[in-house]
Amino acid sequence: MCGIFSIYSKRDIKPNSFINSLKELEYRGYDSAGVAFFEEDNIKILKTTLKIKDLESKLKNNLKTSLIMGHTRWATHGSPSIKNCHPHEYKNIVLVHNGIVENYDELKRHKAIQQNKFKSDTDTEVLAHLISYYLEREGSLVKSVARVGEIIKGSNSFLCLDKKDPKLIVAYKNKTPLYLGIKNNGEFLFSSDLNAMKNDLNNYYFLNDEELIEINNHRIRCFNSKMKIKKMTMVPYASSVVKKKKKLEAEGLITYDEINSQKFLIPKIFNTFDTIKKEIKTIKNFSEIVIIGCGSSFNASMLGKHYFEQISGIPTAVYRPSEFVFFKKKNRNTLYIFMSQSGETADTCDLLETNTGYFKNSLSIVNQSDSRLVRNTRLSLNLDLGIEKGVAATKTFTGQLIYLYSLAIIFSGKKNKKSSDLTSFNKHYMKIFSLQNKIKDIAKKFHKSKNFFILGRNYNYPIALEASLKIKEIAYIHAEASLSSEMKHGPIALLDKNFPIIFLISNNQDSVLKEITNLYEAKSRSNRILLLATSNVIQKLDKNFLKEISLIEIPNVEEDLLPNLFTVPLQYFAYHLAKLNNLSVDQPRNLAKVVTVV
Ligand code: AGP
Repeated sequence: MCGIFSIYSKRDIKPNSFINSLKELEYRGYDSAGVAFFEEDNIKILKTTLKIKDLESKLKNNLKTSLIMGHTRWATHGSPSIKNCHPHEYKNIVLVHNGIVENYDELKRHKAIQQNKFKSDTDTEVLAHLISYYLEREGSLVKSVARVGEIIKGSNSFLCLDKKDPKLIVAYKNKTPLYLGIKNNGEFLFSSDLNAMKNDLNNYYFLNDEELIEINNHRIRCFNSKMKIKKMTMVPYASSVVKKKKKLEAEGLITYDEINSQKFLIPKIFNTFDTIKKEIKTIKNFSEIVIIGCGSSFNASMLGKHYFEQISGIPTAVYRPSEFVFFKKKNRNTLYIFMSQSGETADTCDLLETNTGYFKNSLSIVNQSDSRLVRNTRLSLNLDLGIEKGVAATKTFTGQLIYLYSLAIIFSGKKNKKSSDLTSFNKHYMKIFSLQNKIKDIAKKFHKSKNFFILGRNYNYPIALEASLKIKEIAYIHAEASLSSEMKHGPIALLDKNFPIIFLISNNQDSVLKEITNLYEAKSRSNRILLLATSNVIQKLDKNFLKEISLIEIPNVEEDLLPNLFTVPLQYFAYHLAKLNNLSVDQPRNLAKVVTVV
């Protein structure tokens, strides 16, 4: 995970512009941060285990440097401490790294460095030791990095400086992303994502796997792993690629803003139906679907299964990439859908990349058009919702639901919804956002809870899974999603009068009465029930019963579209639980937005 960023310039670099870009990468990891820069030909290194803001105050405003590189860390090897914070150095080598050197332990025993003293617990430090060793022999930094590139395993991108040469930087990339950018003023940038480079960017290049770039005395060259010079085809930067950040709303938190942004974004996605149809017209001849994804993308895929089976009549299986076992299956008429908002999740990308022959008939659904997953799937659909920075997936989850829904309609051969139906949906959808004060009040009754059950059936089961993930990751409260029908098979033993239960009742006519029975069964055992149900389901419930529970009424809309309406209140609920407990909602502990390690 981690974010790396650097500026190489002919002029003095403005610390603000560097820090602002590094902050843009903070979503990739925020356990610690550090910078290295040349000042009057001497290297300086600053580190913090606080947020990047702390570095900002350490970098004086009159800083005089024309080469600076920085890092924001998500700890994998070694706790978040100053000694484990990047940049790491050994002798003349200074580097910042994103990824994992999987064989670092074995490499530490490499005869060249086995006697060396290591200062940190990281896998990264071994890179500095090895590069330093080769540099003493090869005399060339880029060649030394290439030698090290050949022996390391895993997914690794890093930037490397030589303390003796303030006009030299070498970048290496394998599997985890790294971009080179050239600004309109001629400055060179390296960055883990495109968004952090966007200001005044002229063009950019996404490094291929095992490529190296050397900038030496303002001359730039790209090499493959065998040190053959490669031509870089720069992509002109269109500012539309990265959407301008919307003004934050009252609460000033990114996650809150992203939940609210769905008010306008989601209705718009319904208009992309024809575009989706056009983009997937070459998908033919499949009789089953397999969807693969992690976390929220897995939860959205679970609803996708429901849509594909119910609407299109196509048998669908859903896998987390680490559990994918379909390989033995003879049937080749399978469409593989890879779900990932970032398009960079290592679990998902690794499965695809190590089996490209198998996953020939593949489609990815991402929110990042220039990503690993897009490059390796046959077709790709871009949610195009603008970057999502809050670690909790919110707008991208809902976006994924609608894309899967649209695909299910397209695969069924049916027509898109009439525009009058969509207008009516939008009206109801807007109402959901006005529930937020009520949801905040309800959260006040529950925020001290240690556990939640979240129960639902049909389309509400994936929504329950997603709500439990949101509550765990941002409110740090244990939450378990279950089919309401399954409680009686064991989990009900956990209930007592104080056990909080969030009950989601679907309006599915075949199961609604059974779901209501399960609701009463739960209420007989617990006094702490929050019910989310549509108006017509609520009418079926006992009036006195309703007085004893917390209730969020969901407008009646067509069943297939209801998941969108159930999702938003639960996102608000998780958000308010976290806020009431004074937690870091946008950057929850131990997490990062993009999980580029396996
Ligand atoms: C969701 O709130 C998470 N932060 C996380 O589970 C995420 O959905 C998962 O890591 C997959 O990410 P992706 O969609 O970018 O592949």
